Amino acid sequence: MNKKQFLDLGKQPIANGFLHKEEINNEFFFNLKVGFDEETKLVTQMEYVDPPLMFNENYAYRGSMSETMRTHFRKLSHQLQIENGHRNPNLEILEIGSNDGVFIKNWSPKNVVAVEPCKNFADETRALGYTTYNKFWTTILTETIKKQHGKRDIIFAANCICHIPDLDDTFTAVASLLKEDGVFIFEDPSLAGMINNNSYDQIYDEHPHIFSVIALDNILQRNGLQICRVENLLVHGGSNRIFAKKLGSEIDETVEQNKVYERILGLDNFETFVRFAKKVRQSREDLIRILVRCKNEGKRVISYGATSKSTTIFNYCEIGPDLIEYITDTTPNKQGKLSPGMHISIIPPNGGIDDSIDCVYLGAWNFIEEISKKEKDFVDRGGKFITHVPIVKFI
Ligand code: TYD
Repeated sequence: MNKKQFLDLGKQPIANGFLHKEEINNEFFFNLKVGFDEETKLVTQMEYVDPPLMFNENYAYRGSMSETMRTHFRKLSHQLQIENGHRNPNLEILEIGSNDGVFIKNWSPKNVVAVEPCKNFADETRALGYTTYNKFWTTILTETIKKQHGKRDIIFAANCICHIPDLDDTFTAVASLLKEDGVFIFEDPSLAGMINNNSYDQIYDEHPHIFSVIALDNILQRNGLQICRVENLLVHGGSNRIFAKKLGSEIDETVEQNKVYERILGLDNFETFVRFAKKVRQSREDLIRILVRCKNEGKRVISYGATSKSTTIFNYCEIGPDLIEYITDTTPNKQGKLSPGMHISIIPPNGGIDDSIDCVYLGAWNFIEEISKKEKDFVDRGGKFITHVPIVKFI
């Protein structure tokens, strides 16, 4: 790689490392610096955090915590199960990073092999009857899986491939376990979405890379795969669902369309990211200004969704309990803990936003539709959401 740095997001903790007061003194921090690889056009961190520090038996993020994502994976599963108008009950699936089973629960356990490095979730899907390897995805692991279960028709991964530092090993492993006409389907937040939304909070320890179609195709191709189709999704502020097959497969027009669009955005050009970094610094100033203004006016401000994204924001902008009173989150194992780095308390929503709250920063801005619906009373009584996406503003 020939990486050139364009952004420094400062000292950051483990983004999903929610902790108790007694653990504060042992909290792990690293320097979050982001670069551009001139060779592959990949946007990637300058140094990666060691995966076991993030993905272990205490992993907090649950894919099934929003109705939006449960519906998203249900629809995709149904779409994949129908072939030529008929349901195909025999497709052999493997999921990399199966989390709490939000995708595989739509499939029969007899056809699924799951791989999940976080033991808490591997135990959970195993208990539901799904064969689950509590391992990181590597070429070594695929040799074992190949012997025990054979090659797969579909290898799936959602919000997982961008978590893995070594993409060459990852894609070689996929190519070796895919049947000749098999398809590798994976989705992750898109670089185009991040640039358009100025959502620099997509960058945190677990996202060593933010993918463009251009960069992905470059890396897939040197590992025996190629992109055959791209679907642009609205989830997570703009994601791409990539369909990749063995080299020499048919390619549809969406691949070139996406690459042309990305070239227009300048995603293959370092200077684009230098300009992006300038906008990020501006966004930080604007967010601090708006929160300080609220505080000076005596307004009560909280945050909604203890997200990994807000770990980046709060630590980069140095926003702590003086500006955000507390965070609400529906995830039981985040509640009663402190947010990583800035140590803001996390509490359960208890049926909605407290009546005396004036403003709510959207840590989970990507679920704004679901949240606005749920918090209609807050909106109706004149409560204001605050977001930094795509610019800092009240909603
Ligand atoms: P997500 O945006 O996927 O987080 P990340 O940045 O970590 O990838 O997660 C949304 C978080 O917000 C998750 O912890 C659940 C929480 N949440 C609520 O508390 N209430 C809600 O209504 C929704 C939709 C999410």
